[in-house]
Amino acid sequence: MGIVFDEGLIDEIKSQNDIVDVVSKYVHLKKAGQNYKGLCPFHHEKTPSFIVSDEKQFYHCFGCGESGDVISFMMKLENLDFIDALRLLGEWAGINIDEISTSKKEKEEIYRKNNIYQINRDAAFYYYKNLVKEENKGLSYLFKRGLNIKTIKKFGLGYAKDGWEALNNYLLKKGYDQESIFKAGLVLERKKKNGYYDRFRNRVIFPIINTTGKVIGFGGRVIENKEPKYLNSPETPVFNKGNNLFSLNLAKNEVRKMKQIIVVEGYMDVIGLYESGIKNVVASLGTALTKNQANLLKRYADEVIIAYDADIAGQAATLRGLDILREAGCGVRVVRLSEGKDPDELVRKKGKEAFLKEVKNALSLIDYKIMLSKEENDLTTSEGKVKFVKSITQILKQLKSPVEIDVYIKKIARESEISIEAIKTEIYGNNKKNNEKKEIVDTRKYRSKHDRYTNKYNIQPLKPIQKIGYIEAERALLKLIINNKTFFQRVKEQLCFEDFMDQSNSKIAELVYGLYEINDSIDLEAILNQLNIEEVSILHQIKNSIVPKENVDKALNDYIKTIQKHKIVQRKIYIEEELKKLEKKENKSKEQIVRIRELCIDYEKLLRELKKL
Ligand code: UTP
Ligand code: MN
Repeated sequence: MGIVFDEGLIDEIKSQNDIVDVVSKYVHLKKAGQNYKGLCPFHHEKTPSFIVSDEKQFYHCFGCGESGDVISFMMKLENLDFIDALRLLGEWAGINIDEISTSKKEKEEIYRKNNIYQINRDAAFYYYKNLVKEENKGLSYLFKRGLNIKTIKKFGLGYAKDGWEALNNYLLKKGYDQESIFKAGLVLERKKKNGYYDRFRNRVIFPIINTTGKVIGFGGRVIENKEPKYLNSPETPVFNKGNNLFSLNLAKNEVRKMKQIIVVEGYMDVIGLYESGIKNVVASLGTALTKNQANLLKRYADEVIIAYDADIAGQAATLRGLDILREAGCGVRVVRLSEGKDPDELVRKKGKEAFLKEVKNALSLIDYKIMLSKEENDLTTSEGKVKFVKSITQILKQLKSPVEIDVYIKKIARESEISIEAIKTEIYGNNKKNNEKKEIVDTRKYRSKHDRYTNKYNIQPLKPIQKIGYIEAERALLKLIINNKTFFQRVKEQLCFEDFMDQSNSKIAELVYGLYEINDSIDLEAILNQLNIEEVSILHQIKNSIVPKENVDKALNDYIKTIQKHKIVQRKIYIEEELKKLEKKENKSKEQIVRIRELCIDYEKLLRELKKL
C-alpha cells in the first residue's frame, strides 16, 4: 500500500513494453485508422470495440469503458496489483524491479510479499509431507472420502498435526522471523501475548494457489466433528478471498476448448469432480461471488455454470453474485441440485455422467429466477400470481433483447394466466401508446380532483428536463442524432458541426454530418476508425449519455437551445472583454472608436438573441 515507485523506473518499464505488443499477447489486434482494434478482454462482445492507441500508449474499450495504460492493462487482465504488474512487465523487458526499485519502503514491501509467498510454499510443503510421509488421521480421512493419492498430489493437499506449535517451530527453524509467519496468517498470537500458536491444527489442508502458481492461502477441514468445519487463512498481503477462486490454477488449463467453468461451493466439491474427470471446476470459497472473481472467471470462460446446494443457490447473496457474473459478460446457467446434496456427493454416488447431465440441463439465469419465484409464490391464488408476475417483470426489465423479453412474457403469461398485454404494460409502462395519452397528460391540471386522486388515466407526471451543461447537451444531442436520421435533419437546420463547441464533440459531429450525406444510418465503426483514443473515450461517453425516452422533441429543442445559448454567452463574454480593453485606452484611434461601435451593435444583437432563447 502506498508505495511510490521511482517515476523513472515506471517510465522505463512502460517504454520497454509497447502497449500494442503487450495487448497483442492476449487480444488479436487489427489496424483500424490511427489505432488498433480487437475484441475486448474485459467484457463479452462479438464485434470489436477495444481500441489501442500506439501513439498515446493507451487503450479504451468503447463497449465497456475500461481504459488505461499498459500497466493497468496487466493489472486488470492478470488480476495483479500494481507492483506485481510492474514486476511482470519488468521481467518481459529484462528489468528486475526487485533489484533496482529504489526506495527502502518499496524494497520492504516487495520483500514482505515475496517472503509470505515463500513461507506459504514452505508451509504447504510441510503440510503435504505430514500427510503423505507417515500414517496420520488426515490421510485416513481423505482415503475414507474416496480420494486417491494422485489427486492428493495434484492439489498438494496436506495435514496439520494435532499440536500447538508444530508448523511455527518448523518455519522458525527454517529461518523465517515470527512477525512474517504471523503476517502470513499461519499462526495466532496467544492471549497473554507471550507467544504464538498454529492456526491450523488437526486439519486436512487445502492450499489455495493463484493462477501464477503461488500459494496465497489455505483452507483447513476438521477431521472429527468440530466447529468450525473449515478454517481459512485470514486476509494477508497476498490473500484476499474475494479476489481468488480455489483451483482456478488447475481449471484454467482445462477450459481452452469449451470456455466453460463450473463454480461449486467447496474444496471437496472441486476435488470430487476433478477425480471423476470433470476438471473445469473452481470453488467460490463459501462466499457470494464478487466483481473481481467474476472478472477473473471471464478471462478464462464464456460460460459459468453454478452448481451450489439448493439451499445456498437460492439465497439473495448468491443471486447477486450471479448478476455480477452476468454483468461481467459471462453467460450464466444454474444447476439445480436437490436439497442437501453437493456435487461431490452426486458424482461419487451417481457418477460423472449424472453430474454432466445436470450441467447440460442447467437453467439460464432468467429461467432459474422464474423458477425460484414460482416456488415462492402460490400461483393458485390471485395475489400469488400478481407477485409472481411483478417479480419476473423486474427481472425482464434488465434484458436487452426484445425477442428474449417476448419469449419470457409469453411464458409467464401462460403460467400465471395474466394477459400478455398487462405484462407488457408492467414492463414498458404506458408510454408505448402515444398521442391520445399525451393529450391527457397536457390537460391534467384541468381534470377534477377526483380524477387526479384516482389517477384513472394512469398518468405519470411530466419529468422536467434537467438543466445540463453545454457539453452534456452536445453529447446527448449527438447520441440522439447518431441513432436517428430524422432527428439529425432537424438538428442540421439549426446547428452546423462547428457549433459544437467542445473539440471532440465537434469532430464527432463532423463525422456524423458527413456520414449522413451518403448514408441513412450511422455505422459507429466508421466513426471509430477516424478517432484518436481520447475521442474514442468521448464517443463512449456519448453512447452512455442519458437521453429521455419520452418527450424527445422537447429534449432536442432544449439541447439545441443550450448549445446556441452557450455559443452566444461565449461571444458575449468575448465582446465584454474586448470592450473593456478598448475603453481603457486613453487616446483612442479612429479605428478603435469604430470598433467599439461595431462591438456595441453586436452586443445589442446578442442580447436580443439571448432573450429569444
Ligand atoms: P460445505 O459445508 O458445503 O463443505 O461448505 P464441503 O466443501 O461440502 O465439505 P465437506 O464435503 O463437508 O467436507 C462449502 C465451503 O464453504 C466454506 C468452505 O470453503 C467450504 O468448502 N466453509 C464452510 C467455510 O469457509 N467455513 C465453514 O465453516 C464451512
Ligand atoms: Mn461436501
